Amino acid sequence: MTIPSRVKLVDVGPRDGLQNEKQTVPAAIKIELVHRLQDAGLTEIEVTSFVSPKWVPQMADNAEVMAGIQRKAGVRYSALTPNMKGFEAALLSKPDEIVVFAAASEAFSQKNINCSIEESIERFAPVVEAARNAGIFVRGAMSCVVGCPYEGEVPPSSVERLAQLMKGIGVQHIGVADTIGVGTPKKVQAAMEATLKHYDLNDVSGHFHDTYGQAVGNTLASLEMGVWQFDTSVAGLGGCPYAKGATGNVATEDVVYMLHGMGIETGIDLDKLVDAGAFISDFLQRKSNSRVATAILNKRLG
Ligand code: HMG
Ligand code: MG
Repeated sequence: MTIPSRVKLVDVGPRDGLQNEKQTVPAAIKIELVHRLQDAGLTEIEVTSFVSPKWVPQMADNAEVMAGIQRKAGVRYSALTPNMKGFEAALLSKPDEIVVFAAASEAFSQKNINCSIEESIERFAPVVEAARNAGIFVRGAMSCVVGCPYEGEVPPSSVERLAQLMKGIGVQHIGVADTIGVGTPKKVQAAMEATLKHYDLNDVSGHFHDTYGQAVGNTLASLEMGVWQFDTSVAGLGGCPYAKGATGNVATEDVVYMLHGMGIETGIDLDKLVDAGAFISDFLQRKSNSRVATAILNKRLG
């Protein structure tokens, strides 16, 4: 398998990144972040989630954020929808893509969406059908593909079973997510292989949290299998409120730097991306989690 010559990155910072923030991030800041990401060349942005505001208060402004974005031609805007209620609310905001999210571990499914894996598939089925009838692309996310914060190690057979279930209800693209960032390259490759038994290579992406500093390595390991789509988060923002201790996604800046260094095209302007990361890090009054952004900002200071 040859390494892809072009990679598509989905910046999930506004959703996965900000969902975990304790302090309220105003809708205007989220909208500005989306604008900066699209100006930097991102062609897909995961903007928000239509989940229960009791479960994730930070995403309560979902409709306001979606409405405030000045959409740019060629950019896709996605949102998470856990059930029909979320989908119906999302529909009013006209997302290009919705995301249904399940887990490869039973315990995480219960903690995150309050139902079993089986029940989650039953809940998603009408959402997928309604979205596809409305011409909205359906992506799926599979959490805990190598490890679960409650159950420990998760075998590839659980990933394969979930991928088959997601495929069975018509989910068009599937994200292979290491929610707590415990994966190492061979384990991530095994999870990818399990997924590829049911999904085409062009319909699979990697979603790696960087808790143990393995996410760039796991991205490279997936690239070597031909995977060319990844979720990343500007400034390495993020974490899941129901996966305590897990840190953000791999920083978009770090992945872009690696890809460009390998001669792989992304269409992203790294300098503008670093500015977008600096904008949100300044707002949060926190240093960026991106090593590349830190290096570039230091270099700019001279
Ligand atoms: P539940 O409490 O079982 O839901 O939550 P319910 O159907 O029994 O309803 C209870 C109440 O919630 C009702 O309101 C519903 O109307 C309301 P009440 O009558 O009590 O006033 N409700 C909603 N409100 C707004 N939007 C909705 C909605 N649904 C019900 N969509 C539920 C089940 C799935 C809603 C809940 O567990 C939930 O919202 N979970 C989301 C958790 C979450 O967002 N986690 C983070 C995203 S996943 C992630 O980060 C992982 C990912 O990045 C990949 C990776 O890294 O692994 C994607
Ligand atoms: Mg995530």
